Amino acid sequence: MKAHRKGPGETEAIARTQAKTRLFVRALKLTDFRNYAKAELVLDARPVVLIGDNGSGKTNLLEAVSLLGPGSGLRSRPYGELCRKEGAGGFAVAAKIVSREDEVEIGTGLAAGTREESTGRIVRIAGKEQGAGALSEHVKLVWLIPAMDGLFTGSASERRRFLDRLVLAVDPKMRTPIGRYDRAMRQRNRLFQMREGSRALFDGLEEQMAEAGTAIAAARLDAIERLIGLIEAMRAARGESPFPWAAIALEGRLEEALSRRPATEVEDEFRALLDEGRERDRAAARALEGPHLSDLIVMHGPKNAQAAHCSSGEQKALLIGLILAKAELIKELEGASPLILLDEVAAHLDQARREALFGEILSLGAQAWMTGTDRDLFAPLAENAQIFAVNQGKIRA
Ligand SMILES: Nc1ncnc2c1ncn2[C@@H]1O[C@H](COP(=O)(O)OP(=O)(O)O)[C@@H](O)[C@H]1O
Ligand SMILES: [Mg+2]
Repeated sequence: MKAHRKGPGETEAIARTQAKTRLFVRALKLTDFRNYAKAELVLDARPVVLIGDNGSGKTNLLEAVSLLGPGSGLRSRPYGELCRKEGAGGFAVAAKIVSREDEVEIGTGLAAGTREESTGRIVRIAGKEQGAGALSEHVKLVWLIPAMDGLFTGSASERRRFLDRLVLAVDPKMRTPIGRYDRAMRQRNRLFQMREGSRALFDGLEEQMAEAGTAIAAARLDAIERLIGLIEAMRAARGESPFPWAAIALEGRLEEALSRRPATEVEDEFRALLDEGRERDRAAARALEGPHLSDLIVMHGPKNAQAAHCSSGEQKALLIGLILAKAELIKELEGASPLILLDEVAAHLDQARREALFGEILSLGAQAWMTGTDRDLFAPLAENAQIFAVNQGKIRA
């Protein structure tokens, strides 16, 4: 947190640094992306508001923006699905991104005619083809979409994905161990199913799982501790907020062990556990212990109640608070707020909360992308936002 108070004369200097440390999409061009045949947006750093009826293409546009970061986008759908149905069997999203003092061109998509091939997407950064992971150096993103409304009540796997996105936001290099753990575990599961595998083969895979799994658990602890610290600092600085603070904790064997013992010991223990549990895991055809089973526990702080037991409105407010805290954490680490994608959030808030949300976004200096069906809801943003009307895959200023 910026414990710092502005003194006279400092304001200008701060404004200058802020101008340098913004991240925003300056231009966006879609080709054959979902219901967009061709669309183009030219933007400045201010928040973006997309107004349109249901089915007009607002979420699709946020999804396109989400592909400027690593991963498979906010709907996490196969890339083939993103190609416009009547299009040429590919899609393209091209953007000019201003980050720090640089401007970088990012392009991503599937080549025409490759829709059915279920390949990865092509990513070009400044004209050079790279893996999607490299996008994390340029674009940071956080999002809140209606599908996340059940985050607290739904399956732990959704919360783990949320958690691991937080981990990757704090440390993009964690993509490697996360991928390695997953691959080793799936290979081990496959050996069980096929009733195959030598002792040495299992030892090798379990070694990888122990090493990567311990690294993942440690990174989760670190990311959660940072988020907790930030939430505490925000509470101290702002007092009561319309978005209740979240008390968060991790539930998982390795995470708990790591809070008490050194990582090398925990890693050895986990390796031994996998080895001893091999027959039991064989019977279940999957690993019954490990960080792939951990959970993120969220409590409504002021009420001291489990998030899952709160009203849906309270859960939404908690989620918004969490997303804003995550954005604040990224800003603290990176010097610039991430892009924030908020799909259909404004409509679910009363006026005071809506205005508080806009205030938070403006004070973060975030290029937030917000959608809604009712333009009036965004009136308090006035000239602080760029408003577009979306209609059947066409965008108008
Ligand atoms: N691959 C695709 N090709 C063409 N249209 C698509 C494709 N995928 C989704 N759509 C259409 O996009 C529209 C939904 O857009 P969406 O962005 O979800 O709307 P909203 O504005 O309500 O968020 C639907 O009409 C859907 O049929
Ligand atoms: Mg939508």
